Amino acid sequence: MSENPDFDTYSSLQDCALIADIIFLAVKPYHSEELFEELKPLINQEQLIVSLMAGVTIASIQDGLGIKKVIRTMPNLPAKVGKGITSYTEAKEVSRVELIMVRNLLDTTGESIRVENENFIDASTGISGSGPAYVFYFMQSMMDAALKMGFSENDSKVLVSNTFEGAVELFNQSSLTAQGLMDKVASKGGTTRAALDSMDDNNIKELIQEAAYAAFDRAVELGKKGN
Ligand SMILES: NC(=O)c1ccc[n+]([C@@H]2O[C@H](COP(=O)([O-])OP(=O)(O)OC[C@H]3O[C@@H](n4cnc5c(N)ncnc54)[C@H](OP(=O)(O)O)[C@@H]3O)[C@@H](O)[C@H]2O)c1
Repeated sequence: MSENPDFDTYSSLQDCALIADIIFLAVKPYHSEELFEELKPLINQEQLIVSLMAGVTIASIQDGLGIKKVIRTMPNLPAKVGKGITSYTEAKEVSRVELIMVRNLLDTTGESIRVENENFIDASTGISGSGPAYVFYFMQSMMDAALKMGFSENDSKVLVSNTFEGAVELFNQSSLTAQGLMDKVASKGGTTRAALDSMDDNNIKELIQEAAYAAFDRAVELGKKGN
């Protein structure tokens, strides 16, 4: 065990798994089988397992570990700055109190939503789990356009990041939908309409939906493989 101002860290499962009430599984999905083998002899039915692994189903965690109490979650990267969004769902053996306890823990990284079943965990992988990368993709494309127009690296970054931040804040404070805000900002024959028309002509909306479904499908595929 090594000391950390916020929490204790351990270098072996034997030292921590036995004394834990709740065990978070945060290895890559392809390491799950190996982890299950190591963990199975160390845990018992009273312990609660919370998985962050994309695609790995509740049933395969129960089978792999020989336990019943499993909560499956799909977090996202902004958890690093306290702005994450995590979806979660639970096996029927998890009690209401345990669920509230885990929700309180998840909420320390941002917000969380309970979803009805695992299909929505895979679906939220396509929206919020992988979603930050779609935003970075859009940001990078806009920064590349700004650089091409002659802005410095720093000015491009400031223009793009403030545009995203301001737009999200406006969306959060507005009663309008995203489409409503688009319609409001894009006057007929204006500059914004020219950009939005160009996006529509190139089917960007459909392509983004296709990308989200690619992540969703991949999460389902990972689950079927059991890793
Ligand atoms: N990153 C995201 O935005 C995101 C979003 C949603 C869900 N997730 C899910 O969160 C999980 C973690 O993702 P990540 O990006 O944090 O991965 P990561 O950076 O690769 O971290 C995985 C950690 O697991 C450790 N590990 C691997 N095998 C182990 C074993 N047998 N016993 C103990 N520890 C082991 C690794 O240690 P070593 O480095 O020593 O190998 C590493 O510290 C994944 O299942 C992913 O699907 C991530």
